[in-house]
Amino acid sequence: MLPKRIATLLIASAAVASAEVTPGELLIAEMNCVACHEPSAATAARLASRPSPRLGTNGVNAGAEWLRAFLANPQKTKPGTLMPDMLATLPLEQREAATDALVHFLVSIQRPAEKTQPVDEAAKSTAGSRLYHEVGCVQCHQPFTAPAGRESELAELAARSVPLGGPEIARKYSVGELARFLKDPLQSRPGGRMPSQMLTGEEAESIAMFLLKEGTGGQPATPFSVDPAKAAAGAGYFASLQCTKCHTDAPLPPTTVQVPAAKRFEMLRARNAAGCIAPNPKGNTARFDLTERQKTVILAGLRSQEVLEIPLTAEQQIRRTMTTLNCYACHSRDRRGGISELRLEYLGDRQKTPPSLSGVGGKLSQDAIRTVLASGKKGESGNSLRMPIFGTANTEHLPVLFEEADAPQK
Ligand code: HEC
Ligand code: HEC
Ligand code: HEC
Ligand code: HEC
Repeated sequence: MLPKRIATLLIASAAVASAEVTPGELLIAEMNCVACHEPSAATAARLASRPSPRLGTNGVNAGAEWLRAFLANPQKTKPGTLMPDMLATLPLEQREAATDALVHFLVSIQRPAEKTQPVDEAAKSTAGSRLYHEVGCVQCHQPFTAPAGRESELAELAARSVPLGGPEIARKYSVGELARFLKDPLQSRPGGRMPSQMLTGEEAESIAMFLLKEGTGGQPATPFSVDPAKAAAGAGYFASLQCTKCHTDAPLPPTTVQVPAAKRFEMLRARNAAGCIAPNPKGNTARFDLTERQKTVILAGLRSQEVLEIPLTAEQQIRRTMTTLNCYACHSRDRRGGISELRLEYLGDRQKTPPSLSGVGGKLSQDAIRTVLASGKKGESGNSLRMPIFGTANTEHLPVLFEEADAPQK
């Protein structure tokens, strides 16, 4: 007979093995806590954390004034951002000089800017507005127009949308730069949370014009010249402020700067909110500007982190990917997700919603699913909604999982 204690343990681990992905686990992954707090290989695989944008030649060319504002206060400049404030760890009197040095460093590693275009071509920006509201952007982002009589819904929709970058976005991108980003968002943001909507160059330019008009008007960038001494100092800050932990590919000259060591992930037992989730984070911690609710769910996730060692089942993994990549914005599967009532308005034909993905692994072959994911699909069913491309690295696990989860029991 099994000793009672072991039997209880087995029951407990059976319960744990079926544990669903919790909101805390999702936040830990999307905020990339394990970039600094190194996890076990099993935990790293299960979390599949959101990679941070690339900086340097594969990154975007962002305006110097925007960079300065964003680094000085990420949340204020881009409300809702997942980038922590790392400069807050510096004494007040050092912060401005450090920000300045970082701006010089970041500009020095950017690729040359795209040519800027005039922003006020009315016909193009009208076309941009139409495309923005039709191809699928508004299934994740806020719409700017509503049918007559329903304008009051726009604020509610904006609150439930992925932030676009706020009015400050016009200081970040020229029309040419934003068009380049929209045409191939995966180049600078390999995590695929912002998918490619297969825009042509012309379509991307039209949407960029429209979005920058919604911002502050897309002023041309003020000329900026790099001071090599400041850039070198900035490279030092880039290492010492732990930027390298998340932005792993930024080209950095050899440096002797000390990078603070963070505890391993499994050491974060967090009996109470300390370190990065403390009410007032101190020392070398990362300041994410977490809400009380976020702190509570992250704490719960850290306390039950044993479950993160357990690989997810096929169905759990599908649900997790459909959540992080927001497939649910357009598709339902097993009564979850699908286009919400408020957003049906933007479909053209409300009846023609994207196909449900319930049982899709039994209906389509692995190859057929792989093809849709790799090359996207322009709506053939009378709608201009497009099935976007999320990047092979982010979706290649799905065809097998769909088959495993949906194939009829043998
Ligand atoms: C499936 C959901 C989804 C769709 C569809 C989508 N986006 Fe995004 N978009 C995102 C997410 C998520 C982010 C944030 C990405 C990140 O943090 O890596 C984002 C980011 C952005 C940004 C901010 C870039 C920055 O520098 O801050 C812009 C602008 C944008 N999207 C425009 C668009 C446009 C235009 C379309 C349609 C052509 C579109 N998006 C379609 C999810 C989506
Ligand atoms: C926890 C990981 C993390 C750390 C640490 C971090 N960043 Fe970021 N960074 C991000 C994320 C995530 C974004 C995307 C934010 C968004 O668009 O909302 C970002 C965006 C950026 C961007 C804009 C890139 C683009 O394509 O829009 C720059 C520039 C940047 N970070 C510089 C820095 C610097 C400098 C530091 C150190 C002071 C730093 N980051 C530290 C995660 C991090
Ligand atoms: C840019 C690096 C970085 C990121 C990203 C980061 N941390 Fe930290 N964290 C640190 C450093 C450095 C410390 C202080 C040294 C230590 O205690 O490990 C710390 C401390 C902590 C502590 C206190 C540890 C203790 O026992 O005192 C907790 C808890 C924590 N972090 C949780 C998190 C969570 C949750 C996230 C994601 C939301 C996160 N951290 C993201 C660098 C980071
Ligand atoms: C912006 C909306 C949108 C998002 C987000 C989206 N899709 Fe789609 N998807 C579509 C549309 C529209 C179609 C139908 C294209 C057609 O055949 O006309 C489609 C078709 C499909 C199909 C083919 C289904 C069938 O029965 O033919 C699969 C599989 C699929 N999507 C998977 C995904 C996955 C997985 C994700 C997330 C990684 C995702 N989609 C995200 C809009 C979207």
